[in-house]
Amino acid sequence: MADYIILKNKFPSFDRKIFVAGDKSLSIRWVLFASIGNGVSEAKNLLMSEDVKATIRAVKKLGIKIYLDKGNCKVYGKGIDGYKYRKNITLNASNSGTLGRLILGLLSNTPYPIKIIGDKSLSKRDFKRVTDPLEKFGVKFKLKNYKYLPLSIKGSSNLKPIKYFEKKGSAQCKSALIFAGMRSRGTTYIKAKKSRNHTELLCKYLKLPIKVNSKGKYDLIKIKKVNKIDSLKYNIPSDISSGAFFMVLTALSNNSNLIIKNVNINPSRTGIITILKKMGVKIILQNVRNYKGEKSADIKIQSANKIIPINCPTSLNTSAIDEFLLIFLVAARANGVSYFKNLEELNQKESPRLLWGAKILNQIGIKTIVTKKSIKIYGNPDLIVKKKITIKNFLKDHRVFMTCVIAALSFGGKWKIYDKNSINTSFPNFLNIINSLKN
Ligand code: S3P
Repeated sequence: MADYIILKNKFPSFDRKIFVAGDKSLSIRWVLFASIGNGVSEAKNLLMSEDVKATIRAVKKLGIKIYLDKGNCKVYGKGIDGYKYRKNITLNASNSGTLGRLILGLLSNTPYPIKIIGDKSLSKRDFKRVTDPLEKFGVKFKLKNYKYLPLSIKGSSNLKPIKYFEKKGSAQCKSALIFAGMRSRGTTYIKAKKSRNHTELLCKYLKLPIKVNSKGKYDLIKIKKVNKIDSLKYNIPSDISSGAFFMVLTALSNNSNLIIKNVNINPSRTGIITILKKMGVKIILQNVRNYKGEKSADIKIQSANKIIPINCPTSLNTSAIDEFLLIFLVAARANGVSYFKNLEELNQKESPRLLWGAKILNQIGIKTIVTKKSIKIYGNPDLIVKKKITIKNFLKDHRVFMTCVIAALSFGGKWKIYDKNSINTSFPNFLNIINSLKN
């Protein structure tokens, strides 16, 4: 089947309630925690995407039994030291930075070298940011050109605790260090620029000896050796990063209303809501509730009559990091110039997303000024696109594909967007939900 989609029409109005896919960060973390837990862990609504399947395959290769039936998953953990390390293991992280980086912390005690490989996109991404601090624990690495996959990791049974300052705001690096700290003798101290904190919240829920103190823009994390982790039953909530596509589609459509049910609204992930509200979009959180240390809610959103341009506070960058391509589309509709800065991390994602954001906007006739870390967007509230647009060669970045679909449905034009299968990375039923909203 052709791996592209053709779109020719703007989207009709809708008034609906939907569920989107399970949260990717939580799904991957749940599998990893369950794999070092004691006994059987069970999850419902686990995200059935390629990134999560790659995580399951990796953990199985380490000798952990897993049964999967749609979103229901059972992991038979054998405890914190339960991985069966063998010679010549290769783990394929596929497209997933989260898997590729987090698992390095868990593998920090492997006595044999383990090879980590990834797809073309992951093989262009920086792994030195995580291997450098892990080396301080006593873990040994060999990386392609000192920075990239494939890499080989050899751990130690006597890891020394470290003190480290994580400055990028990378939850993937921070989480890898927490896992390595859990395997080390003594106490590890990490000062980390605030980023999504699912790992820390799971540690807290599991009553592990990991303490977090918030200090302004940073978290001070104290990690002690972990001897035992309980098994964990978890009902994975929906992913705000998947919901975001539909939030933006609603905001940019005429006379539409949407409720997205049971979405994880951890404050370290809700930058999209804060930013859209500042831009004049009406969003209400309903049924806010706590679930195992995390927060969920139903997100209600309405079409926006007028979009206000934004000088986006950099304090919102990490909590909206996966949603900027979409936020740029909203800025394209604004009545004036929007400015987003200190966003160099965006070019470290599955594709250089700051550049792709500008490319997509230029294709729809929006002027941008883009640097290595900022973008100015000259919005046009009357924007209607009529031309033919082809989008390809974006390293199969799932979020580039889905953002282009939302752009086509919101602004019009005749689009041919390649690499449709990229949605399997994070949101396999994305196009099904789009179709269901039309009917
Ligand atoms: C993630 C952290 C973020 C995010 C990614 C998922 C995670 O990456 O962009 O999609 O689950 O920890 P960085 O840690 O590179 O910022």
